[in-house]
Amino acid sequence: MTRRPDAVRGATIAGTGMYVPDRVLTNADFERMVETSDEWIRERTGISERRIGAPEQASSDLALIAAQRALEAAGLEPGDVDQIIVATTTPDRILPSCACTLQAKLGAHNAAAYDIFAACTGFIYGLGLARGVIGTGLADNVLLVGVEMLSRIVDYSDRNTCVLFGDGAGAALIRPCEPDDGILSVAIHSDGVLGDLLEVPAGGSKQPASAQTVNERGHFIKMRGRELFKVAVRGMEESLRAALATAGLAPADLELVIPHQANQRIIDATRERLGVPADKVILNIERYGNTSSASIPISLDEVVRAGRLKPGDNVGFVAFGGGATWGATVLRWTMPVPVGAGSAGAAVVAREVVS
Ligand code: ACO
Repeated sequence: MTRRPDAVRGATIAGTGMYVPDRVLTNADFERMVETSDEWIRERTGISERRIGAPEQASSDLALIAAQRALEAAGLEPGDVDQIIVATTTPDRILPSCACTLQAKLGAHNAAAYDIFAACTGFIYGLGLARGVIGTGLADNVLLVGVEMLSRIVDYSDRNTCVLFGDGAGAALIRPCEPDDGILSVAIHSDGVLGDLLEVPAGGSKQPASAQTVNERGHFIKMRGRELFKVAVRGMEESLRAALATAGLAPADLELVIPHQANQRIIDATRERLGVPADKVILNIERYGNTSSASIPISLDEVVRAGRLKPGDNVGFVAFGGGATWGATVLRWTMPVPVGAGSAGAAVVAREVVS
């Protein structure tokens, strides 16, 4: 857990952006691919559709558009960026990093660029990292992107996983601020003992790619969903409580909670344990499915552009993912409400709209 009092200066989100590919894969499409039903998927997960990247797109292409939108919102140019952090489990290639590929496409020639690999909790890990490098003066402008093309590692013959995941990117530009504003606290955790609850067995140093690993479908996600479900709810509740305690706040002090969109039932169970009302919890899983490290920044950008956050609001992010990793962060919002917020195109779905 990082603690606030040592920081010389704070760090805050000064611009957000998101991008999802155009192609929509609906539950009806899955009914033609595997033995499933729209009713099962919606009841068990809350998902109706998800976005799938075009064959010519790679993660860095999705990240590029989200990053450009975040920079524009922050009023900065690519050359102003000191660090690019990309949270992803689906980089374009194993080498080089997705962040370096993004740097080249963005033209952010003054930046140091690197990936972090914390699955669905990646964006929260990245916020902690960004706060650290800004607080210690290593950087002023940090571009943090969560991006995934999970469609590339999903086995479309495995109904246990294929209905869950989607592609997308979300970005935030993080800048210095007063110590008592912006990112107030970050609580992050891992437990590698739980590593095989969610894994891609082949393609790394343990099982390098071979004809055999391809034939065995070893390059696709394998998940023990029921076991993950239980630890996810506990981990999300505990980490958000820890982040709130460090910030000196209670759940009732949060204007909004933006949870990782893994499963609507996980979000509901976490919300109930924390005693947060449904209308304060952001849900867009219905439209995008689980986009892993991209789900929180995508949700955040929709919330910001819809005008649902104003300066002084307390907002919590919370996630659980493969690794296992989990964590939460609490921010005191500093960005002014964007001009034209809430106008057409700025869709944000909270519970009262979904049901
Ligand atoms: N359609 C129809 N039936 C299905 C489907 C499907 N798409 N998928 C599974 N089933 C069946 C199973 O085969 C099982 O059948 P059986 O009882 O005959 O064996 C039955 O439905 C129940 O399966 P469960 O796994 O118990 O279903 P559950 O209610 O747990 O829902 C789910 C499954 C949605 C995967 C849920 O467990 C979940 O969301 N888990 C957490 C996922 C998560 O948080 N992952 C980590 C983050 S993701 C990341 O890090 C990238």
